[in-house]
Amino acid sequence: MDKNRIIVFDTTLRDGEQSPGCSMNTEEKIKIALQLEKLGVDVIEAGFAAASPGDFDAISRIAEQVKNSSICSLSRAIDNDIKQSGLAVSKAAKHRIHTFIATSPIHMKYKLKMSEAEVIKRAIHAVEYARTFVDDVEFSLEDAGRSEIPFMKEVMDAVIAAGATTINLPDTVGYRLPHELGAMVKELSDFAGDRAIISVHNHNDLGLSTANTLAAVMNGARQIEVTMNGLGERAGNSALEEAVMAIKTRKDAFGELYTNINTPEIYATSRLVATVTGVEPQQNKAIVGKNAFAHESGIHQDGMLKNNETYEIMKPEDVGVFKESTLILGKHSGRAAFRDRIEHLGFDKVSDEELNAAFERFKILADKKKDIGDDDIRMIITDEALNQDKTYELEALQISDCSNGVPTAAVAIKFKDQIMRDAAIGDGTMDAIFKTIDRLTGYDGELKDYKVTSVTEGKDALAKVTTRVSFDENSPAFVGHGLSIDTMLATAKAYISALNSYLSQKERLSKQSPHQV
Ligand code: KIV
Ligand code: ZN
Repeated sequence: MDKNRIIVFDTTLRDGEQSPGCSMNTEEKIKIALQLEKLGVDVIEAGFAAASPGDFDAISRIAEQVKNSSICSLSRAIDNDIKQSGLAVSKAAKHRIHTFIATSPIHMKYKLKMSEAEVIKRAIHAVEYARTFVDDVEFSLEDAGRSEIPFMKEVMDAVIAAGATTINLPDTVGYRLPHELGAMVKELSDFAGDRAIISVHNHNDLGLSTANTLAAVMNGARQIEVTMNGLGERAGNSALEEAVMAIKTRKDAFGELYTNINTPEIYATSRLVATVTGVEPQQNKAIVGKNAFAHESGIHQDGMLKNNETYEIMKPEDVGVFKESTLILGKHSGRAAFRDRIEHLGFDKVSDEELNAAFERFKILADKKKDIGDDDIRMIITDEALNQDKTYELEALQISDCSNGVPTAAVAIKFKDQIMRDAAIGDGTMDAIFKTIDRLTGYDGELKDYKVTSVTEGKDALAKVTTRVSFDENSPAFVGHGLSIDTMLATAKAYISALNSYLSQKERLSKQSPHQV
């Protein structure tokens, strides 16, 4: 292994998905995994196979489709977890099992109620068992940030002897300061020597996750566990885009160290993750926030006009942020111009079917909105790709309100080439829409989360609605997406989209063999 290469292990689909409100459905996870592959991520942690049949299904389908990145599944140090992980990743071209147990005094005493000897015994067994499925086994010492070095060395010796190839040292609660984390990594990577790759996984509770990741790299870590947009439990994980761009931009500090990330794919990946989860990075988020390359003050603008380097340390195009195209698309634009713009925006794998459907939607939008910008187009394409399950399709919606009257919704839905129509009253307009859809489809959805964002500025901006809806108490809530210039239409579409995802997953799981779940 090249000593200067930093392995990028992305856990957006596992730790990222653990952020409140970030659950994704299988199709969405596959889209993200394929984009992570295009981004050049070395290892994709695709989920926690034993968590649910849905997780297992998503990991195994990602394992079948991704060819260049290694596919990994997380497992507690428990036989069934490891077995589910082993089965879920079995079809991947390259695969890994990640297993963990806590090693900090506080976790061992209160959470595990286990002695040090018991923890070591369990860790050895977990790694040995994982090795019966795959050759590439990662072992994490959970809460390494608060664990004692001599005990960590004992655990490391034991699990390396049992067959672990990567040792991950998570700062699970985001407690460490960069100089402390750097010192810990130095001592433990010197201790491991060539026996295993040292990895770090830093949480952002004190806003230090990326600083800690970089300190670790400078002190011998050769794998970084990161997420797109910094998603993750609580305050999140170290952001892929920040760690990767710091290593690339500060060659003077990192010397020959490098990652294999194809950085111009960063922005497209960030947008996809934000669209799927409905969680937008804060405007001033490093690298991928809306303002990351915006120059507002006169002094800055003046400097930029004279020489970009006055106020820019990275080129926007190096992370895939391209200047808004000066060629405005409108209702007279043709399919060729539309395809050209899509390719310019980095969507080179759009199928003809997706392109045709997106072009139709573009034409409808162009009738209502004068100028269609890159963000509108990016959103149309992504929405088309995310809404491939079309069991039910919204045909028409009419609402009457509201202020003093009785909120009413009349809805027409297409199902198996038939148009079904109904109307209902509700406590508010949205309630009326959802009740009518429930009546037409026979499902009783419970709205868990609802987000609306505007894709661009202006009164004619597209509204993007993300819903999370639960359709039965035994399965998690499903995410739905709706896009329209009209917020209520986008809302109805997002609710139906969540129902379609639920139905397609239900159908797929009913076809799986029982040993898989
Ligand atoms: O934060 C953590 O400790 C984790 C482990 C499971 C790696 O996510
Ligand atoms: Zn974590």
